[in-house]
Amino acid sequence: MAGNNLREALVDEIRDLYNAEKQLTKALPKMAKGATSEELREALESHLEETEDQVTRLERVFELLEEKPRGKHCAGMAGIVEEGSEKLQEDAEDSVMDAMLIASAQKVEHYEIGSYGTAIAWSEALGLTEVAQILGETLAEEKAADEKLSALAESGINEAATAGESEDEDMEEDEDEESESKSAGSSAGASARSASGSKSGNGSARSASGSKGTRQRGGRR
Ligand SMILES: [Fe+2]
Repeated sequence: MAGNNLREALVDEIRDLYNAEKQLTKALPKMAKGATSEELREALESHLEETEDQVTRLERVFELLEEKPRGKHCAGMAGIVEEGSEKLQEDAEDSVMDAMLIASAQKVEHYEIGSYGTAIAWSEALGLTEVAQILGETLAEEKAADEKLSALAESGINEAATAGESEDEDMEEDEDEESESKSAGSSAGASARSASGSKSGNGSARSASGSKGTRQRGGRR
């Protein structure tokens, strides 16, 4: 139950995140499998590794809070994951599928960025410095993953996804679903751009993966 006090509310939020990260350890491999761009597949796979570390980090947070590591069904993440798996069932062109996968993955990241940001602010307000610091390591990874996805979208996936656009008229009648997906793909690009706030090329996708350094510190192995 979201608590009577901020500490209980924090524990509740951590349980939500614990469940959300665990849902992702199952969803990310399926998303990676659905990706056709090699770089996108690698990005999703490397975020899976990070996600596994993030689960471990949350267990450390439970320990610091003297609470049992127990998740609480995260309906928000379940909804985002469900939407993503519906997209995966669609019969889309490879590049359009990649654009849709990026859109789904960024919705995941944005949900997590919001939740971790809240949990960090609450930890700080409660004077739980170490908890805030551990959660901050994960928040940095989520932001880096989000930026990497924006960079991938902008480095050619969105452009490739517009390749069939001129044939739309012929396909309009029987491909209603597909044209919907296409507009979803391109709006993902727009939001990706505004989210990252920068126009980064291929190179930055690579440098974003340099954030692995952050990951090691909190790894607690
Ligand atoms: Fe995560």
